[in-house]
Amino acid sequence: MSNDAFISIQNVDKFFGKFQAIDNVSMDIGHGEFFSLLGASGCGKTTLLRMLAGFENPSKGEIYIDGQPMSEVPPHHRPVNMVFQSYAIFPHLNVRDNIAYGLRRQKLTKQARADKVDEMLDLIALPGYGDRAANELSGGQRQRIALARALILKPKVLLLDEPLGALDKQLREQMQLELRALQRQVGITFVFVTHDQEEALTLSDRVAVMSAGTVLQMDTPSGLYETPKTRQVASFIGTMNFFEAEVKSTNGAMMNIEAQGLGNLQLPRGERHFNEGEAVQVAIRPEKLLLTDDKPEGDGQMVQGQLRNSSYLGERSHFYVAIDGVDAPVAVSAQNRTRFAPDPSDERPVWLNWSDDAIVVLAKD
Ligand SMILES: Nc1ncnc2c1ncn2[C@@H]1O[C@H](COP(=O)(O)OP(=O)(O)O)[C@@H](O)[C@H]1O
Ligand SMILES: [Mg+2]
Repeated sequence: MSNDAFISIQNVDKFFGKFQAIDNVSMDIGHGEFFSLLGASGCGKTTLLRMLAGFENPSKGEIYIDGQPMSEVPPHHRPVNMVFQSYAIFPHLNVRDNIAYGLRRQKLTKQARADKVDEMLDLIALPGYGDRAANELSGGQRQRIALARALILKPKVLLLDEPLGALDKQLREQMQLELRALQRQVGITFVFVTHDQEEALTLSDRVAVMSAGTVLQMDTPSGLYETPKTRQVASFIGTMNFFEAEVKSTNGAMMNIEAQGLGNLQLPRGERHFNEGEAVQVAIRPEKLLLTDDKPEGDGQMVQGQLRNSSYLGERSHFYVAIDGVDAPVAVSAQNRTRFAPDPSDERPVWLNWSDDAIVVLAKD
């Protein structure tokens, strides 16, 4: 375990009968970090969270929180609390009693209890809401109450299982900002589960991308987006164009790659080691391609293609360009900087250009 890891998950397996839901997962999460588990439904996110909470035990491996092994520690003795997707507040209790629910085992004076609840109502920006009935609250307000109820016990770790999943898009985006601000304010470690990649990128310090019980890659949001390690991660986080390619030669810090459709590319070798003759994939994000009608000036990287179709999305448009030697049309994304752009639907010859650092080279999978 590294010294600054507040949560350390070490070689954890989880079996349900013969079914393996978690396969040799290891991760260290720092104190005060906003850490997300991201992956498609069924990949094991909730199972991992439930093992942190103590509702399930690992079949193999160990979980440490704050330096302590958790295997013998029951849920209510762990320094964690959990918030669920469904509005887990009691419909028959008012806001005050919902938030104070977790304090029922503590011997507090009425005043001390009321003060703690008021502190939480301020924290979630709902001062004065204490006497409201649960059914007089909006979805967003209920989810804030659920957060307050989890935070009133001052856990060292808050586990959040798709807490914004039931909210509509606009409210969800507003709650994302609030949640991030709240986490900074209370300064405790958040382990957040989502299947929504945009949500994970917006909120997190670091993200673990999961698939079928394993961790594919763990990195900062920009690290995942700009330097994905595999095709699976590259296509799960955002959109990516892929081109079959081969390493022709390597020379010191540079390598020469022949990519289908793009031609010959001179690229820095970076951290990864590729051999001469190795089949690889070249990948490039849609927004890193610049589409022009006229041939770009200079001798930078460029290719000619045929604009096939496009879609208008308000603040940007997507274009699909056919390139000789490439099966799938290449996706290009462009900001609509001018108000009255030329009709983008015209099929016509166009040019694509990009800078060297736009290209990611991936091992063939
Ligand atoms: N108690 C259980 N018994 C049997 N299978 C389970 C149990 N809990 C989860 N699973 C299975 O483990 C896999 C991972 O589930 P889960 O952790 O809930 O995924 P996620 O939260 O990523 O959607 C799924 O295939 C699910 O059906
Ligand atoms: Mg789940």
